[in-house]
Amino acid sequence: MQKAGTHIAIYGDAGRGNAEQFDLGRIMARRHALHPFRFALSTGDNQYDATTPDIMKRIFEEPFAELIRAGVPFYQTPGNHDMDEDRITEQLRYSREVNALSQGKGGWVLPAPSYVIRDRFVKIIVLNVTAAGSEFPYPHEALEFAAAELAEDTPDWKILCCHYHLWSTGLRGDHKEMKKVFLPFLERHPVDFFFAGHEHHAEVFAPWNGMTFAIVGHGAEIRKHVMPSAQPSLFRTNEIGFTELTLEADRASLVFVDRQGRELWHQLVPRRNLTRSTGNQSDPAGYEQPAALDRPSHS
Ligand SMILES: [Fe+2]
Repeated sequence: MQKAGTHIAIYGDAGRGNAEQFDLGRIMARRHALHPFRFALSTGDNQYDATTPDIMKRIFEEPFAELIRAGVPFYQTPGNHDMDEDRITEQLRYSREVNALSQGKGGWVLPAPSYVIRDRFVKIIVLNVTAAGSEFPYPHEALEFAAAELAEDTPDWKILCCHYHLWSTGLRGDHKEMKKVFLPFLERHPVDFFFAGHEHHAEVFAPWNGMTFAIVGHGAEIRKHVMPSAQPSLFRTNEIGFTELTLEADRASLVFVDRQGRELWHQLVPRRNLTRSTGNQSDPAGYEQPAALDRPSHS
């Protein structure tokens, strides 16, 4: 039975069509049966191989078949491998054809390289900060898009998702250019969570200015390199898996699940700005319980 709140499956760097991705799909489906996901969100690198007529079957439709049949929309974040060889053009076309939301069924959702997901009391800003052949194009357009979306002062949970990380103890270590651009941006436009992929492990960092930063890039391949990071790490795993994010009125929880279904780590995250006045004394976050099991929307 669907519970109140927004329960999301977050995974990343999974688009390989390998045995690990099939394990990921199986365990996500098993967890969905226990507590249904409103939707899934990929942190990018959804397609590693060249575009062929059967590519979407291999890297998406078959590994995630059970969840797609169950009606789960899969929101996609563009990663650098999705930009290689202009794969994103085909992915955008595929999204328009499948169009999971308008058909009321599960499937691939990528309405634009950067876009917004709205669901109950959460706003997720998906940003494309990648480009073909470049580790980091300065994301002027993406930042302008995010600034406009974050300017609105609402009691929603605010989440930013893009492929490149800020901090990491993985292969690449801290991403200097991302930190240089995004830390001042986030001081002006704070969010509750910042999710990224690119690194092939999972990690959660000590809060920075009340914001939680997580890497979820362990969907189909792992790397065990350990680099120093300027930000203390609270949790790290090199097991294949994904993350469940549950958002309620006054708190969130993160649960990292591995490919066997083991819960490796569980963290409760209190609201960052519960003190903000919302005019609703009985509900400090300004929420009401959802009246209906509506669908998430995007723009
Ligand atoms: Fe990547």
